Amino acid sequence: MVKKINACVFISGKGTNLATLVKSSRKNNFPLKIELVISNKKDAPGLKISKRNSIRFKYFSSKKMRIFEKKCLIELKKREIKFICLAGFMRILSKDFIKNFSHKIINIHPSLLPKYKGTNTHARVLRNKDRFSGCTVHYVTPKLDSGKIIKQKKVLIEKNENEDSLKKKILKVEHAIYPKSIIKIFK
Ligand code: GAR
Repeated sequence: MVKKINACVFISGKGTNLATLVKSSRKNNFPLKIELVISNKKDAPGLKISKRNSIRFKYFSSKKMRIFEKKCLIELKKREIKFICLAGFMRILSKDFIKNFSHKIINIHPSLLPKYKGTNTHARVLRNKDRFSGCTVHYVTPKLDSGKIIKQKKVLIEKNENEDSLKKKILKVEHAIYPKSIIKIFK
């Protein structure tokens, strides 16, 4: 059994990656205990996953990022959080926030970075008629979707692929590589 460290997952939406991380965190070989979930969206469906699993959760508005980050830092300190996983968290964290968790914040992004940073990745990939897309787990830096890559996985784009089918296909792969990336970091 590995010694688990306290982690927080930041979400903005559905939280299917959060669900995968929660499931993984129950296994003996997984290095994180999900102690806290933070959402910048009051109605994020992912918050229901924390409730269902009895994980403490907080909502902070991100209208003013400085205030959002300040509130997060207080809570993270209180819960002795040592590692942060962004899972569909759709805001950019500042340099000042990130320096509190140097090399301790990771993100999952639905493209083969450095290609397609930012939003609407699937639509852009299809428009460009790429043959492959995929997902990437990487360290978070103040530059959008640019930190060192931890793991990446490719998927083939079928002839009749649409945005929805590609999103589903990639999400399935995300659920496999996110926990694996975390195990790799702590090995
Ligand atoms: C995932 O596809 C994740 O890669 C993406 O948002 C989705 C969240 O799904 N993240 C980004 O685009 C971040 N730039 P989930 O809420 O079901 O985990």
